[in-house]
Amino acid sequence: MTDNKRKDPIRILFISIEGNTRSFVHKLAEYAQEVCKQDKNARLIETVEVSDASGEILMKDPFVTFVPTYLSGGNGIHNGYTEIMTEELRFTLEDDDNYKFCYGVVGSGNKNFNAQYGLTAKHYASKFSFPLIDLYELRGTSVDVERIYTKLVTYQTEFEKKLKAFNGQ
Ligand SMILES: Cc1cc2nc3c(=O)[nH]c(=O)nc-3n(C[C@H](O)[C@H](O)[C@H](O)COP(=O)(O)O)c2cc1C
Repeated sequence: MTDNKRKDPIRILFISIEGNTRSFVHKLAEYAQEVCKQDKNARLIETVEVSDASGEILMKDPFVTFVPTYLSGGNGIHNGYTEIMTEELRFTLEDDDNYKFCYGVVGSGNKNFNAQYGLTAKHYASKFSFPLIDLYELRGTSVDVERIYTKLVTYQTEFEKKLKAFNGQ
């Protein structure tokens, strides 16, 4: 990569049932655009939304996934672990081993759900062996946007380094 070429974007694969996650990742993309105006080394954001209507999605470059929490009943301690509504994202991660290029998950939910708050993201981290990067509530705040953008830059940069080393570059 030459010095004057912008770094690869942060790629986000997400699902949104009621629009909160969509709103948050779009705020992140707007924030990234502002940062990039000031800093030629900063990264833009590209998003891919999963829906029931999605055809096959191939993710063969480093990316992060965003998942809201929807669980069937229970309390997340003794029961209430079963994912509902967001399974299409899990299937997309499983398809074609897409998850192997995923360097982490950002979860969201509602703190009123107590122990179930953000639990689907924790389940994904455990199932796919990638880190839980962060959690935010509902549509998130501007503080969440700044914090999570900074973390994503760090995580993607580290993952790219590991991938290069793995590929002997
Ligand atoms: C039926 C239903 C079940 C939910 N279950 C949980 C839950 O178990 N844990 C949690 O943290 N949030 C839960 N939430 C809150 C959502 O995760 C939260 O509203 C999220 O921002 C939705 O994201 P979306 O609008 O992108 O779909 C639930 C919301 C609904 C409507």
